[in-house]
Amino acid sequence: MKNTIAIVLAAGRGTRMKSDTPKVLHEILGKPMISYVTGAVSKAAVKNIVVVTGFGSDKVRDFFYGAGIKTVVQKKLLGSADAVGAAKREIGRSGDVLVVYGDTPLITAETLKKLIEKHKDSCASLTLLTAVLRDPAEYGRIIRDTAGRIIKIAEDSEAREYKKETDEINVGTCVFKSADLLDSLKGIGCDNSKREYYLTDTVGILSAGGKRVESIAMEDLNEMIGVNSRVELAAATNVMKKRIMEELMASGVTIQDPATTTIYPDVKIGKDTIIYPNTIIESDVKIGENCRIGPFARLRGGTRIGNGTEIGNFVELVRTTIADSTKVKHHTYLGDAKVGKNVNIGAGAITANYDGKNKSRTFIGDSSFIGVGAIIIAPVKIGKKALVGAGAVILRGTNVKDGATVVGVPAKVLRRRSGDRRKTDR
Ligand code: UD1
Ligand code: CA
Repeated sequence: MKNTIAIVLAAGRGTRMKSDTPKVLHEILGKPMISYVTGAVSKAAVKNIVVVTGFGSDKVRDFFYGAGIKTVVQKKLLGSADAVGAAKREIGRSGDVLVVYGDTPLITAETLKKLIEKHKDSCASLTLLTAVLRDPAEYGRIIRDTAGRIIKIAEDSEAREYKKETDEINVGTCVFKSADLLDSLKGIGCDNSKREYYLTDTVGILSAGGKRVESIAMEDLNEMIGVNSRVELAAATNVMKKRIMEELMASGVTIQDPATTTIYPDVKIGKDTIIYPNTIIESDVKIGENCRIGPFARLRGGTRIGNGTEIGNFVELVRTTIADSTKVKHHTYLGDAKVGKNVNIGAGAITANYDGKNKSRTFIGDSSFIGVGAIIIAPVKIGKKALVGAGAVILRGTNVKDGATVVGVPAKVLRRRSGDRRKTDR
């Protein structure tokens, strides 16, 4: 969306979180809640994003460092109009300004797009996102005249005379014509019970000046869940989880028990893969088709799994690539490993990828067989069709050749006497 700038309000401390971390940096499925908001904004094609910080501003600025998102500081938390004012220098007089709150992580790009479209189509000065609630307490109420035109927003603390009149509320997300925003900000005072500068006072100012204020109603009320406490953080996390899993299921993935499964954002899973209960799949994981994952598996960032591969119970994988039709079925940890196809990793086999200072890699070639309880102290290379005996400890720097059998502690190559019929094939 050219010529549109987004301002994300995130200066609030979030007192009810009882935390030293700024509220918007509290995580939902591994990512700060504000990153869902900025993600939705950029997905709605608004590329110019300014985040208004206040409490813990250094931490918020550091989080966005290098992400192409600007941060400005609101020195004193004097209200939402003052917060937008802190970003005034970033706003030109032409174009539009989208205002979103950093603590409403469930807002979607689709809703933002609709809001911006309506704003552009109707040529309004301001377009609000609204909702009708059974219990509108605590929200700003949308006040309309007899012709249905929006004439003001009455904040809950000031809304006494309107309280019974309307259950239509201000979600908080809105789009202004830049010039109208800049002009109306000048007229806002703090003559209210909280002595705050309310951004919502722009509605009355614009309307009184003969400008048009439009609205669209929110379809899915979950999108407006604001996170003010840890209980609300958990509620928002649950909604996000459900969204992610429903999208995967719609694309052909079976998730046997969504209630006990957690899948983070940025996970790709191919069709006909089955996720068994109590499995956690973190961000930046890709799984192919026809795999079986879990129960009780944990797949962490940087994991790549081919097609038809089985990852069983109590298996943890991190930064590990596993090719097609391999089995890693019980009690295994593989970190920084690259495993070929048709490999069998025995129960309890482990890569020791961290020596206290450095992380090292393990390579396991196609069709190899790793015995139960084997310990592979990386860096190690195991060739194709190799066999590692049960309980073997392979020391760092070992290079097991294609087709070799190694056994023992530390593992040594087992030399076959002639006539030895030991089978290395499965
Ligand atoms: C606000 C709206 C209200 C709406 C409700 C929806 C105003 C005056 N009222 O009320 O109409 O129904 O949201 O949840 O905007 N912020 C700053 N700096 C400040 C004050 C606030 O950055 O000085 C940020 C907060 O971090 C928050 C947002 O602005 O993200 C809204 O402020 P808040 O004080 O929570 O407003 P509400 O009373 O919830
Ligand atoms: Ca709020």
